[in-house]
Amino acid sequence: MIVLGIESTCDETGASIVKDGRLILSNVLASSADIHERYGGVFPELACRRHIDVILPVIDEAMQKAGAAPHEIDLIAVAKGPGLVGALLIGMNAAKGLSIAWEKPLIGVNHVEGHLYASMMGEINDIPLPALGVVLSGGHTLLLKILDIGSYEPIGATVDDAAGEAFDKVASLLGLPYPGGPHIERIAKAGNPKAHPFSAGKVKKNPFDFSFSGLKTAVLYAIKGQTLNDSQKADVAASFQETAFNDIVRKAHLAAQTFPAQAIFLGGGVCNNQRLREIFRGKFPNLPIYWPPLNLSLDNAAMIAGLGEKKFLARGGIGDSLDLEVQTRIPFLPLA
Ligand code: KG4
Ligand code: ZN
Repeated sequence: MIVLGIESTCDETGASIVKDGRLILSNVLASSADIHERYGGVFPELACRRHIDVILPVIDEAMQKAGAAPHEIDLIAVAKGPGLVGALLIGMNAAKGLSIAWEKPLIGVNHVEGHLYASMMGEINDIPLPALGVVLSGGHTLLLKILDIGSYEPIGATVDDAAGEAFDKVASLLGLPYPGGPHIERIAKAGNPKAHPFSAGKVKKNPFDFSFSGLKTAVLYAIKGQTLNDSQKADVAASFQETAFNDIVRKAHLAAQTFPAQAIFLGGGVCNNQRLREIFRGKFPNLPIYWPPLNLSLDNAAMIAGLGEKKFLARGGIGDSLDLEVQTRIPFLPLA
């Protein structure tokens, strides 16, 4: 199958053409991060306006780069949520419009599940199951037991900030631009991770849940009222990063032992972090760890197209009706 995927959940407008669930023929992304930078986070209204301006050119470019004509597209997959309502509506309506005009089936997919599926799009033939799924993005932090694509059991989630959100907030405290994750990673390289004895949040109700807001507040108190030089900033960034990642990897390790997991699949923007990858490799020397291939950690439409095909086939080739609605929040389970 050849699938057009459309992504517009937050501040990236994406369109991608994917063949047979994995072969990426084109993957086009227009980010509006430049407009949000001065606000230190995504400004929903401005994100929506940018989506409106760029959605059709982005889709056109994806079709051209793939050398695909409308009649060659078999399915249109769109991220139906979770995300910002105005942003989602633009992707959804573009997908519906094309579905009507091209007379092609439409399918809505869960963006967070898409992040997990991204790590299954690389060089992998059989997916070892059950596996541990770890989603670390700007909006989500989840540990899941993967029984199959589309079949998951929840293990843990954040009770407050998402992992990427914590990176963005700490970056902003250090005067670094938005999105802050890559900047924290960059300056942390020169820092001493033991300089500040930060500790990770504990959640009484569930040992696999995460809490990052206390860690962020600890960073705030550690630097409050001071003017830090570059080396002091590097120490704060390294200590924060190490505390957050050790917490994630320790909980993932405990969770993986419970079933036991045959592999680990990771997804979401934070997976771009090389230090995270290093800590995971050190903690799981004997388990296959699958990371999203290049350009598929951050928001993108290729993961939406790939997952869309899997869902469509699993449903016996039946898509969604044109009544499909966007969902700003989707409880991960049961997966809709
Ligand atoms: O998956 P994503 O594009 O968006 C959501 O669906 O939320 O992830 C974006 C998040 C941002 O919070 C960003 O700061 C974080 O991923 N991020 C990183 C790195 N690159 C992106 N966090 C830590 N280290 C990185 N290298
Ligand atoms: Zn995302």
